Formats: sequence, C-alpha cells, structure tokens
Amino acid sequence: MNRLVAIAGGATLVYAVLAVLMAIMPGIELSQVPPGPGVKPLSPIEARGREIYVAEGCAYCHTQQVRPLPVDRVFGRPSAPGDFAFDTPELLGSERTGPDLTNVGTRQSSDVWQYIHLYDPRAVVPQSIMPSFRWLFDVVAKAPAGVVPVPVPKPYAPANGAVIPTDDAKALVAYLLSLKQQPIPGAPGEAAATAPLAQAAPANGTTGGAAAGGAAAGAPAFDAADGAKLFAANCAACHGEQGAGVPGAFPTLHGNPVVMATDPAEHIATVLHGAQGKPINGVTYAAQMPAFASQLSDRQIADIIDHERTSWGNHSPTVTAADVAAVRAKK
Ligand code: HEC
Ligand code: HEC
Repeated sequence: MNRLVAIAGGATLVYAVLAVLMAIMPGIELSQVPPGPGVKPLSPIEARGREIYVAEGCAYCHTQQVRPLPVDRVFGRPSAPGDFAFDTPELLGSERTGPDLTNVGTRQSSDVWQYIHLYDPRAVVPQSIMPSFRWLFDVVAKAPAGVVPVPVPKPYAPANGAVIPTDDAKALVAYLLSLKQQPIPGAPGEAAATAPLAQAAPANGTTGGAAAGGAAAGAPAFDAADGAKLFAANCAACHGEQGAGVPGAFPTLHGNPVVMATDPAEHIATVLHGAQGKPINGVTYAAQMPAFASQLSDRQIADIIDHERTSWGNHSPTVTAADVAAVRAKK
C-alpha cells in the first residue's frame, strides 16, 4: 500500500512540477511581456474580424508565427513575444496548409484583392486549394448607393447580380489588413522582413531564357533576374506572376499603354506614386495601385520597369536608375 501511495504521489508531484515549469510559468512570463515597438491594440472592427477568423477555422490552415528558420524568411522577421501583447489567446496555429499570415497585411494590402480571394480564391490564385467563403458575401440585384461591389472576375462571379461583402467579411478583411509586423530596430532578420518574398521568389524560367537571349544579342542594361524577382515580390500579388492581372479587378500589363509608351515618365510616376480611378483601356478599377517611392530604390524600380517593358511580349525602351531619380525629383 505504501509503495502504491509513493508511486502515485511521486507521479502526481512530477506532473505538477512539470506543469508549473512548462506551462504556467511561461504563460505568466509571456503575459507580462510589454508590447513591441509600434504594436497597437486591435480596433473594434478588427477584434470582431479576429472572432470570425476563429469561427471560420482559418487557423486550421494558417499559422501566425514566423520561426527563426531560413524557410520562414519569406513570411517576415522571426516573431517576438511583444508581437502578441494584444492578440491573446495567440492564434499561432500548427498546420501550414496555406502561408503564414503574421505579416499578410503588408504582403497583400489590397482590400479588393482580399474580398475576391475570400469569395473564390481561384479567381486570383488559379492553383489555390483554399476553400471559398461565399457565405461572407451577399449577392444582390443591384449594389445599394455608396457600396462598391466586389469586382469578381466573370468566370467566378454569379450569373446575375452584384457581390457585396457582409459586415462579417468587412470585419475579417479589416483584421487581415491589420496583420502587419512592426520592425524591431537592430534585430537580426530585419532586412528579410522589409523584402519578405524577394529571396524566395523562384527564378522565373521564361525570364531567365529571355535574359540569356538578350545577353547574346547585346547585354541587357538591367538585371533581368532581379527585375523578375522584385516584380514577383512587389507587384505579382495584384498583377499576377505573368503580368496578366485579374480581369475587372487589376489591369493586365500586357500591351498596357503606359508600359508600351516610348516616354517612360508616366510609367515611372505610376510605380513611384501609385494610381487610382484612371480608366485603362476603357475599364475603371475599384482597387488602388499603391505607391512604392518609399519602399524601393531608383535602381530597384528601374529593374522592375525594365522587366515589365521586356516581358510577356512587351518591347519598349528600357530605363535607368537615373531616369527614375529624375521623375522622383520632380514631385
Ligand atoms: C483548407 C485550408 C485553408 C483554410 C481553411 C483557409 N485557407 Fe487561406 N489559404 C490556403 C492556401 C492553400 C493558400 C495559398 C493559396 C492562395 O493564396 O489561395 C491560402 C492563402 C490565403 C491568403 C493569402 C496569403 C498570402 O500570403 O498571399 C489569405 C489572406 C488567406 N489564405 C486567408 C484565409 C482566411 C481569412 C481564412 C478563413 C476565413 C482561410 N484563409 C482559410 C488554405 C486555407
Ligand atoms: C495592391 C494591388 C497592386 C499592386 C501590389 C501593384 N499594383 Fe499596379 N495597379 C493596380 C491597380 C488597381 C491599377 C489601376 C490603377 C488605376 O485604376 O488608375 C494598377 C496599374 C498599374 C499600371 C498601369 C498604369 C496605367 O495608367 O495604365 C502599371 C504599369 C502598374 N500598375 C505597375 C505596377 C508595378 C510595377 C507594381 C509593383 C512595383 C505594381 N503595379 C503593384 C494594383 C496594384
């Protein structure tokens, strides 16, 4: 009997000590970590969106934890305890069927893109296996005044009517756009966080071939491989890896008049300062083209522009970093 008590008591004691050491103490310690620099509490609509994220089971396929591993560098800098100060209980997740979403608000900042993607992921990412979340949208005969319908491309849109986001969809997208990593000054991996997808962008076979051909016919004045990588990291989310855009939502860059123009000034200004609401080949786009002046150097912008001007059948004169600097100086 005494031995039984000793075994049971000993086991209980070991269990209790381990529970305190491995679960309770780290929990207490974590809850006392101050928020990291720039980490803000969620607004009411973002907090509501977080509840929908949980209810819809997004965390079954998406993590929100960037590990300090080379394979995770595409998702941002390694997560720090202060990142989660206002996001408790943490939605770390354990399955990564889809990409980590810790920094998705930086990577994909367009609400229009997020709506189309939630309505039917295939409409913007053809090979996607993410389920559609159509119940987060209403299909109405005509969008009420002041409500911009979601520009779902034709093959994915309902036969009749306009797709408009419900309040749940609006809250969820507000939450997704709030998922932005704040830089930690001087922390290792910081460089990776500012250009998250650049290192990971696969070397584009077609572009590589074009570059090799270009080199044979007279060395190209720009780094085609760099231009393709930078385009994949900064532009492909909306314009597509192959620059074909999303019909009705994001313009194609194949044969785009601004890309084809001999005078590159408007092309450079569009990338530097962004654009909105200008009809392109008769279509007006609801989404906004973001400005890149503060994120990309003159050299990087020149490389991207030259990639656009020499890919997908486009043949337009290329530009130099000095051309970009000249347009930048004008503003
Ligand atoms: C069955 C697994 C699965 C579920 C559930 C799921 N996703 Fe996804 N998600 C994916 C996959 C796979 C991708 C990558 C392909 C793509 O972009 O569509 C993805 C991509 C994304 C992206 C784009 C990420 C990027 O880096 O471009 C966002 C944003 C996203 N999901 C949000 C959500 C939200 C919000 C929910 C819940 C409403 C959700 N997902 C539910 C599998 C899933
Ligand atoms: C968040 C989505 C998004 C991203 C990211 C994006 N664009 Fe755009 N882009 C747009 C939209 C929307 C338009 C249409 C703007 C308008 O309606 O005036 C556009 C228009 C353009 C045009 C055509 C301008 C014209 O007047 O015909 C060019 C060129 C262009 N983008 C290049 C780029 C480049 C280069 C990048 C990356 C550095 C990029 N875009 C990143 C959404 C995006």
